[in-house]
Amino acid sequence: MAVSRLAMLGGPRSVDRDAGTSPETAWPIVTDAERAAVLGVLDSGRFTSVEHGEVQLLEQEWAEFTGVRHCAALSSGTAAIELALTATGIEPGAEVLVPAFSFIATAAAPVMRGCVPVFVDIDPLTYTIDPAAAAAAVTPRTQAIIAVHLHGLPCDMTALRALADRHGLVLIEDAAQAHGATYRGRQAGSLGDVAAFSLNASKNLPTSGEGGLLTTDDPAVYQRVLLHRQFGEELTGRGDRPYLSQVVAGNAKLSSVQAAFTRCQLARLAERHEQRDRNVRRFLDRLAALDGIVTPACPQDRTHAWFQVRLRFDSARMGWPDVAPGATRALLQRALRAEGVPVRPYQSLPLPAQPALRDSPGSPPWRPEDFPVTLAVIEDSLTMQRWHLNPAAGPLLDRCADAFEKVWSQRELLLPAARSMRHQPLWQRLDATAART
Ligand SMILES: Cc1ncc(COP(=O)(O)O)c(C=O)c1O
Repeated sequence: MAVSRLAMLGGPRSVDRDAGTSPETAWPIVTDAERAAVLGVLDSGRFTSVEHGEVQLLEQEWAEFTGVRHCAALSSGTAAIELALTATGIEPGAEVLVPAFSFIATAAAPVMRGCVPVFVDIDPLTYTIDPAAAAAAVTPRTQAIIAVHLHGLPCDMTALRALADRHGLVLIEDAAQAHGATYRGRQAGSLGDVAAFSLNASKNLPTSGEGGLLTTDDPAVYQRVLLHRQFGEELTGRGDRPYLSQVVAGNAKLSSVQAAFTRCQLARLAERHEQRDRNVRRFLDRLAALDGIVTPACPQDRTHAWFQVRLRFDSARMGWPDVAPGATRALLQRALRAEGVPVRPYQSLPLPAQPALRDSPGSPPWRPEDFPVTLAVIEDSLTMQRWHLNPAAGPLLDRCADAFEKVWSQRELLLPAARSMRHQPLWQRLDATAART
């Protein structure tokens, strides 16, 4: 069959224009079960998290799913990381090891607790914190490691556990993106001393807005989280409220409506994961056959939740050896978007180069040479987000794979444009601005 002209050059799109708003790519999926559960809460009049009901049931079900003793429902994943630090006794001023490649909340949470984030480069295969680099970053002031299961792939928890034990560090999982992922047969959320999940509507286990879950096997940590999520009070929902605060704390509770919504999502989590896993693997198998596309690795001892799918592009293996990785990525993004494939960057800076974190008091100064892997991955990759979460997106992912094959078969035509593209990494532009001011 003759290949059609590239959409970027005026040819037909590979993926329909309305694909992103179709039921096949909707996320979260809202069914009659969610509608009935939410209405049930409205009709019950029990809206708060302390009244026995949906919040407690969600906590029990998530503890059971992840295989831990305790779960606390919270207002966000960010609150869960902050409370994980607080409840495990990480002191203000302590150093916390944080991967240089993550969402801002992973580093903002320790900073908001008064801790000092010390950034660590990532492993080139898994894009998660590199245990050897983490070991090299430990100082006498280090008290914790935040292991981010980025994109839904668990970190090398055996190596991180050994490192934490060697130095008496608390091992915190940032599992915001990894609901249902496993490491050596155990669920994310049961692998560290304490774990934080996000229930943001974009996540694999979503609520109808914002929310979070914290899991731990340690009863003392759990009790401290309960105190700190509700004004330092022991709220039981029984009898008159004594208004007695044991510690100074804020309010980080989840509402019943949101818990009811998430319980319906949880009932389908495993089934949706299985179909998504099949869809994503079929898509990746086709892409892996194209020269220069590096598809995500999933080591044998873990399973991937596929919150995001990151694709790296190797200019040399594509036959574009003289094109800078950032220019290749930018041009491919244009060509693929024109075909209707929703590829986009996820994270355009290493965390230590974020304007908000560059001058974190106590952190080592930002030096690009400390984070070669993070910089390379940011420059040469794009991600697929959201569409593939819906298990019905399989046929659309097939169209996306068609688009990649089409673009690859005609990439010669893009080469002059790629060569002429001016591209400077964002961190370099920010560094240049900072040097001028
Ligand atoms: C890796 C990571 N950590 C933490 C968070 C924060 O979660 P939330 O948005 O629920 O506060 C997110 C959210 O996207 C995340 O992706």
